[in-house]
Amino acid sequence: MKALVFDVTKGGWESTRGFELQNVPEPVLNEKKDPTDADKVILKVHYAGICGTDRGIWNRVAFKDQILRSIKAEGKTRRILGHEFFGEIVALGSKASSVAPSPLRKGVSDSHRRGIVPLKVGNFVAPESHVVCNKCFQCLRGEKHVCTNEKILGISHDGGFAEFVKLPAHIVWKTDTKVIRPELGAMQEPFGNAVHAASKVPLKGKTVAIFGLGPIGLFLLLVARGQGAKHIIGVEPNPVSIEMAKRLGIDYAIPLRSQASARRGSLASATSYTHNREVTDEIMRITNGLGVDVSFEMAGFNSSLNNALFATRRGGDVIAFGIKTGDFVLEDYNRFIVRGLTVHAVIGRRLPETWEMTQKLFADPKNKIQENIWNVILNQGQDTILPLREYTRERFEQMMAKHPKILIEI
Ligand SMILES: NC(=O)c1ccc[n+]([C@@H]2O[C@H](COP(=O)([O-])OP(=O)(O)OC[C@H]3O[C@@H](n4cnc5c(N)ncnc54)[C@H](O)[C@@H]3O)[C@@H](O)[C@H]2O)c1
Ligand SMILES: [Zn+2]
Ligand SMILES: [Zn+2]
Repeated sequence: MKALVFDVTKGGWESTRGFELQNVPEPVLNEKKDPTDADKVILKVHYAGICGTDRGIWNRVAFKDQILRSIKAEGKTRRILGHEFFGEIVALGSKASSVAPSPLRKGVSDSHRRGIVPLKVGNFVAPESHVVCNKCFQCLRGEKHVCTNEKILGISHDGGFAEFVKLPAHIVWKTDTKVIRPELGAMQEPFGNAVHAASKVPLKGKTVAIFGLGPIGLFLLLVARGQGAKHIIGVEPNPVSIEMAKRLGIDYAIPLRSQASARRGSLASATSYTHNREVTDEIMRITNGLGVDVSFEMAGFNSSLNNALFATRRGGDVIAFGIKTGDFVLEDYNRFIVRGLTVHAVIGRRLPETWEMTQKLFADPKNKIQENIWNVILNQGQDTILPLREYTRERFEQMMAKHPKILIEI
């Protein structure tokens, strides 16, 4: 079968870039050889999404250790990439079932309020990208999103940029294609990130700032609006994303000047980690000198985190979501403490709550979430969906440069 991979035998991590289209063996279920196959499914992948993580792998700036170490541990030489996807079950093990919630009952432990959802060939599903162990301290306490032993699809476990993929059945979410269009089926995973971030503090009536209007920042705009945020301010350097945010109804979009032009301007003394004063001054002006109630850092840059800290009112909340390897400097620590800010780090999706909420939001046509994602963020599929067989490095790079979100059709 065809798959997009990183292959250690085709040049090292540092000396290569991009993904490689290869013919690789199709996964099979063989319970006699591997009894754990009893709890697994094989999906025929239909659509797979590209996100910031994949761009990081493409440019070899993220996930080096996790990819190289896990390939070695499995005795392999390549990793099939891709963690956001949607497909159809074509084979399943003798015990394969998806773990999904039964009606919630107060005072019942996490493991007891689960029901088992039977799976069968022909079901459409999307996987949670974190393969959790269901055994560690956190998993047993209903905090699976911070599992000690997790593997991540497309990084430390083979992923979905392939015709077929073998997965543990407990991570797949049944998806009703009468309600969720297949292209967006592949978008439940990153949309869930925004749902999780937005669930950290109540947003009703609040003034909110989103730093970074990439796909997940734009999803967050839709979720925060649905939750009744009163004013939403966005900060973003890319004019294409600013335009999308305006079409999605953002109240204020502040274009971030590039660092180069900022250096020429009023920020002569700014270093790479310090906040952008013109941005935070503008937010103070919009909020009558108060600052926003809640800031979301959705870009993964040090200066952006400090922008979030400097734009938030005393006693407000900062949600840290963007990822970058290495150290961040927290500017003016004394100010941070004196203002009594609360910082929340958000990873992945809460299991199962975030998936339930995501599917509920997608299924409700009144909120126009699917319509907005398809029409605005996916440009109605025009130049944003590439069939796998047409993949070339050049074509893919062009599409990634032009569109914040693209899909592979398999
Ligand atoms: N915490 C998690 O579980 C989790 C999961 C997925 C992705 N992420 C991270 O979240 C971030 C957003 O994900 P995405 O897929 O939307 O990524 P993305 O890279 O597509 O989007 C980031 C956006 O931030 C903008 N940006 C760059 N510098 C900025 C700055 N200084 N201030 C404001 N905006 C700036 C970019 O132009 C881009 O539009 C990334 O850092 C990604 O690695 C975190
Ligand atoms: Zn992703
Ligand atoms: Zn665990």
